[in-house]
Amino acid sequence: MKKIVVLTGAGISAESGIQTFRDADGLWEGYDVMEVASPQGFEKNPKLVLDFYNQRRKQLLKVAPNEAHLALKNLEEYFETTIITQNIDDLHERAGSKAIIHLHGELLKVRSTKISRIGAPVILDWKKDLKIGDKCINGHQLRPHIVWFGEAVPLLDRAIEITQEADILIIIGTSMQVYPAASLVNFIKDDTPIYFVDPRPSISKNAFNNLTIIEKTAVEGIPELVTQLIKTN
Ligand code: APR
Repeated sequence: MKKIVVLTGAGISAESGIQTFRDADGLWEGYDVMEVASPQGFEKNPKLVLDFYNQRRKQLLKVAPNEAHLALKNLEEYFETTIITQNIDDLHERAGSKAIIHLHGELLKVRSTKISRIGAPVILDWKKDLKIGDKCINGHQLRPHIVWFGEAVPLLDRAIEITQEADILIIIGTSMQVYPAASLVNFIKDDTPIYFVDPRPSISKNAFNNLTIIEKTAVEGIPELVTQLIKTN
């Protein structure tokens, strides 16, 4: 089976009603990233940070996967498909995709503020508000299981390994401004075709070999791309 890797960003969830970060009226227009999405911010004002994620968690429980998420699920029948997402929502999971790597963490999970001696933090499912005083079994304050600015991306090596084996790379709804996620495209084999789906693509036509830019939204462009890939498989 051919291997497809799909790198998704906030744009794939836009048509589900979740704000992107850097579009007009994007999330970062209303907040200082360093105050609500960094370890320093959490240190300085943990309640502000927890409230920021509580509000996003509440909103997530009100939205649903869109036709683009659902179309990607269909790929799995014909290709070995891995989704590498920068998104912290669970819309790929709810659309039924199985192999998903959340490079920047997951909004519906929390973990201890202290990494235990063996290194892997205890990760808990969490759908309700997270408050100061909510502690894990070893008595440490819980925090969102999100990779904040300045923190390492624990799943990066796995993501690179998978991208290196891709026979096809699809990039959907990302401004390609945040590293190391944006660097993954540099790890593909030379002859791997890249499909870049974004109504306002941030890369130029000759940015990569074998690049097809589809200037459409995810819902307009992904179902037809998936149909085409299945037909020509
Ligand atoms: N369909 C497809 N793409 C869309 C749509 C849509 N309906 N609407 C917007 N887009 C595109 C925009 O044109 C833009 O290129 O989605 C992209 C969104 O870019 P960003 O807001 O920068 O989001 P993203 O690239 O995912 O940000 C990466 O930055 O703040 C951090 O951790 C955060 O994971 C996030 C990372």
